[in-house]
Amino acid sequence: MIVDRLGRRFRNLRVSLTAACNYACTYCVPDGKRLMPAKNELGADEILVLVTLLQQAAGIDKLRITGGEPLISPKFDEFLQGVMQLGLDDVSLTTNGQFLTQKRDVIVDSGIRRINVSLDTLVAEKFRDIARSGDLATVLAGIDQMLEAGVKVKINMVPLRTKNGDEIVSMLDYCLERGIELRYIELMRMGHLLHGNQFQADYMSMASLLDLIGEKYEFSRTDAPFDSTAVRFQIPDRGVFGIIANESEPFCKSCTRLRLSSDGHLYGCLSNSRNQYVGDLIHESTPIALSKLQSMLMSALEDKKLAFEGEVTVMKFIGG
Ligand code: 5AD
Repeated sequence: MIVDRLGRRFRNLRVSLTAACNYACTYCVPDGKRLMPAKNELGADEILVLVTLLQQAAGIDKLRITGGEPLISPKFDEFLQGVMQLGLDDVSLTTNGQFLTQKRDVIVDSGIRRINVSLDTLVAEKFRDIARSGDLATVLAGIDQMLEAGVKVKINMVPLRTKNGDEIVSMLDYCLERGIELRYIELMRMGHLLHGNQFQADYMSMASLLDLIGEKYEFSRTDAPFDSTAVRFQIPDRGVFGIIANESEPFCKSCTRLRLSSDGHLYGCLSNSRNQYVGDLIHESTPIALSKLQSMLMSALEDKKLAFEGEVTVMKFIGG
């Protein structure tokens, strides 16, 4: 097992199935251009081999399927079914929810227990303003179908002062009513937000979110798993919400995440574009692949930072 001087190791793998996305959210892409698949994306079978190797080499026991948008990938069904057979403790999925109704059976039949849906607003026009595509009602119908099927849903909302800053409480109401844990994700300085003034204009801190929530609800801080990125709060008799406070309370010191991009690169840190190409390991014998992986993982672990510093390229391709 590879452990760094802070005791960090990789447990938690995030697999980006494709870099492509059917949305073009304002905070993710600057010019409204849709994200396209990466040039040499691996097939579902190839990614599954890499996941198996990473289970052995790094001790991965949790996996999240991300993108881009994973549900638009032709690999999605095969990958989901395959990954559920690998004996991982926990498999989850992050999606923008637009195709949940279409993929309902594949998702439910796979046995996956929980999913995260990225949803920034409950107002249809604002939805199109932020995502520059998609349809709110379809996403909400998809969420309802998942809940009805007994799949646990979390919602990720990125608060943006100039866009959905007035929906902090209404989004929480929507989630509490449905037994959904809402996760506010503090805006991160990724991509084009690293420069210019959009970040300053839109960023809402954990303190400002809690002030707004406090006007309606009483809450207290509650536990979160040690390597969780979220600070969690309990509203008595109502439910729980979380804040992923990248800026206000960085969680880098307990980070256990490793990321695999759709074109076969491993990233040790979301705030570091350094990566290792592992796509060719599938052609090696298992012992050789595992020994090569060891040194790559060591190097990927060294790439972890102590605080999120901002990164120009990474997030949208490797799924946050
Ligand atoms: N800051 C915060 N969250 C972001 N996401 C994408 N870009 C950013 C950013 N710059 C979110 C998406 C999705 C999750 C994977 O990351 O909205 O919910």
